[in-house]
Amino acid sequence: MIEKTLVMLKPDTIKRKLMGEIISRLEKKGLDIIAMRMIQMDEGLVSSLYEEHLGRDYFQPLKEFIMSLPVVVCAVQGENAILSVRKLIGATNPQDAAPGTIRGDYGAITRCNLVHASDKPETAVRELGIFFPELI
Ligand code: CDP
Ligand code: MG
Repeated sequence: MIEKTLVMLKPDTIKRKLMGEIISRLEKKGLDIIAMRMIQMDEGLVSSLYEEHLGRDYFQPLKEFIMSLPVVVCAVQGENAILSVRKLIGATNPQDAAPGTIRGDYGAITRCNLVHASDKPETAVRELGIFFPELI
């Protein structure tokens, strides 16, 4: 089934000049980048994107990290796009992420794991709605 999902290249990706590498992996998989924008996240956007994590002990440092530099938000479309992107990025903790995945190849610690991607269809609709309401 053709799906849309929200991908965000986090500040570590921008800082380490890995934007092209990560976009390239999505493209080589056959996924389409149907919208893309560089933005500065603010408190409201971080709280909205990460609403299920509000109140967790890692939320404050996560928020500061996400607001530390601009990020790139992308709407990605393709066959089984939600699971497909999750498989490409790998496990949340880069130490657990398999080699060959983005987090497995480039990440070292959980907070700075390079990329966010929606984890299920309801999340994809909610998260795309934050940044690309015209696509919902
Ligand atoms: O990003 P993913 O869906 O794989 O993981 P999550 O459990 O939904 O957590 C969202 C983000 O919070 C992670 O990608 C990490 O950047 C951050 N996080 C953290 O800093 N420390 C944790 N213990 C768990 C998550
Ligand atoms: Mg998540």
